Amino acid sequence: MRRGFSLVAALLWPALAAVTLAAARPSSGGRTFSVVSFGAAADGITDDSEIDGDMLAPAGMGNWPKPRRPLQWLNFKWLNGFTIQGSGTVDGQSTSLPSDSPANASQLHWYVSGVKPTLIRLYGSFNVTVRNIRMSNSPQCHLKFDSSGGIKVKNVTISSPGDSPNTDGIHLQNTRDVQIRSSSIGCGDDCISIQTGCSNVHMKNINCNPGHGISVGGLGKDNSLACVSDVYAEHINVENALYGVRIKTWQGGMGSVRNVTFSNVRVANVATPIVIDQFYCDGGAAAGARCRNRTDAVEITGVSYRRVVGTYTYQPVHLACSDARPCTGVSMVDVRLSPASAPPGALRQPLCWKSYGEALGMIEPTGIACLQRNHGFVMPLTKPFNYTC
Ligand SMILES: *[C@@H]1O[C@H](CO)[C@@H](O)[C@H](O)[C@H]1NC(C)=O
Ligand SMILES: *[C@@H]1O[C@H](CO)[C@@H](O)[C@H](O)[C@H]1NC(C)=O
Ligand SMILES: *[C@@H]1O[C@H](CO)[C@@H](O)[C@H](O)[C@H]1NC(C)=O
Ligand SMILES: *[C@@H]1O[C@H](CO)[C@@H](O)[C@H](O)[C@H]1NC(C)=O
Ligand SMILES: *[C@@H]1O[C@H](CO)[C@@H](O)[C@H](O)[C@H]1NC(C)=O
Repeated sequence: MRRGFSLVAALLWPALAAVTLAAARPSSGGRTFSVVSFGAAADGITDDSEIDGDMLAPAGMGNWPKPRRPLQWLNFKWLNGFTIQGSGTVDGQSTSLPSDSPANASQLHWYVSGVKPTLIRLYGSFNVTVRNIRMSNSPQCHLKFDSSGGIKVKNVTISSPGDSPNTDGIHLQNTRDVQIRSSSIGCGDDCISIQTGCSNVHMKNINCNPGHGISVGGLGKDNSLACVSDVYAEHINVENALYGVRIKTWQGGMGSVRNVTFSNVRVANVATPIVIDQFYCDGGAAAGARCRNRTDAVEITGVSYRRVVGTYTYQPVHLACSDARPCTGVSMVDVRLSPASAPPGALRQPLCWKSYGEALGMIEPTGIACLQRNHGFVMPLTKPFNYTC
């Protein structure tokens, strides 16, 4: 087994290489290695290296000395035409403890927000495929793509406990032309998280259980500019989750979310299946001024829900849009949500606040169709932004 690894593969551009994670087999391993030292030929033909065995991060993050703690266990940078595949598992072995109660002082430093390592990260990489592997128990996000493009993720399995904080399944940022298919994701946070700078993201045949569902955002934090467009999620199953499909933006942000479609979504035992939240604020009262109502907001326009069916445990639909920049072009077609066996007092009516669009086809309960008709245009109350997404 490999232990205590932190793999960095960089500067293979323009190379074509592959890492294969095969079935578990004991072997010894160093802390840092490069795919080049494993004989990566980078000739565009060779299946360059084979790494045998499951990859295990050291158990208990506290074992990493503070100055050497990595922000990710496996970090791939500036790759072009690269494949990570195999039947092995990358196991972070680290999610057992909730963030607010580190078991002992040696682990405390990991619980400061943002310093927990991502399991596998690809940065500045193009035409990358990740397939068949399993990822589990990351202290933070499991698979992250940043400033990349031409990404294919297929048949991967991600599993972490539902109560492990901030453990996103797949996280995309500044990444275009992405296909995520035929994968099962269970974790303690967003199943797939789509952040600013992403466009043309296609998700198909995804199981999310447990977790927080498919999520665009949170966008626009600290008055930042956020741009997300052309997101398509189809044949999505979400079970035992807080949310089904969600778009969340912070107040005071700028930019836009455009052309997002959620099609053929099944939910079971999901607290709130359909959410647009333009009042998103992580951290509650502690976040103080960040949660204040502002006039600026990341604009949300062109969001379709087609055939979203199943059961909820709290509120079927929660569309809370900005007073100054309402959500426009929201459409619901065949949305049927019924209460799961929850105590009747626990259930809330659907909410549509400043949400414009139309509902068609079979809509249950009928209160979901609380969208306001606007004949296609709503005048924003604030002046246009001087930027282009
Ligand atoms: C702290 O937790 C880690 C990981 O569970 C463990 O390896 C270590 O022995 C613990 N340290 C103390 C002092 O209990
Ligand atoms: C999906 O991945 C698993 C685990 O690696 C593998 O056993 C299975 O053959 C893969 N399925 C396909 C269709 O490639
Ligand atoms: C990615 O692959 C496509 C198709 O093979 C190719 O046209 C494109 O140039 C590649 N992108 C980069 C950045 O190499
Ligand atoms: C919306 O996004 C999808 C892909 O996600 C794309 O195929 C389609 O052309 C986009 N529509 C518009 C009007 O841009
Ligand atoms: C912010 O605005 C929303 C919608 O108008 C309102 O429901 C909420 O109470 C406001 N929050 C604060 C803190 O003023």
